[in-house]
Amino acid sequence: MMALNKVLDYAKSIIKEVTCENDYLIDATVGNGHDTLFLAQLVPYGKVFGFDIQTEAINHTKKLLEDAEQTNVELFNISHEAVDQVIPKELHGKIAGVMFNLGYLPGGNKAITTKTETTIKTLEKMLKILKTGGVISIVVYPGHEEGKKESKALLEYLKELNQRAYQCLIYRFINHKEDAPYVLAIEKRY
Ligand SMILES: C[S@@+](CC[C@H](N)C(=O)[O-])C[C@H]1O[C@@H](n2cnc3c(N)ncnc32)[C@H](O)[C@@H]1O
Repeated sequence: MMALNKVLDYAKSIIKEVTCENDYLIDATVGNGHDTLFLAQLVPYGKVFGFDIQTEAINHTKKLLEDAEQTNVELFNISHEAVDQVIPKELHGKIAGVMFNLGYLPGGNKAITTKTETTIKTLEKMLKILKTGGVISIVVYPGHEEGKKESKALLEYLKELNQRAYQCLIYRFINHKEDAPYVLAIEKRY
């Protein structure tokens, strides 16, 4: 165990910090389902909503959750951009945490990656449905071309968020490669 968490562990730790057993959480980029499973285990009396555009990712995750006997997850094989349409209206403003793990599926098709414009639009929607005190963690991968654009756009977007309404931070190892993955985190204050 190291004193300074690796980036993905840090992204998970801040979600864990604010989550209670009956909360609602979102995995915006399900992929192979590792983060979805982590979130599901945090909310045994709550629920996780998960999104991925790849059927392969959704099927893989369904199996992972079944094997772990986790029944508190609803998976959507659609873009996370539709989040406000598929999450029940009564839960808007009640979501405790959202995880984004951007980029492409490890071991999958590298051409299927999160896209700058969609990511920013979705983030705006997530901020609206997040509850006060809720957090969003985003693992960013500037080491590939679309990821570099996404990283720049996200930093610009977060810097402009009203600091009374949101606290935004960056978690990055400054002695790693300049384009190494890092975490952005947002806490909604009211
Ligand atoms: C880095 S992977 C996620 C890794 C995953 N969290 C895990 O634990 O394995 C990124 C995922 O985002 C998905 N993705 C890309 N664009 C998306 C979108 N618009 N909506 C939802 N998922 C998207 C990709 O299909 C890919 O599976």
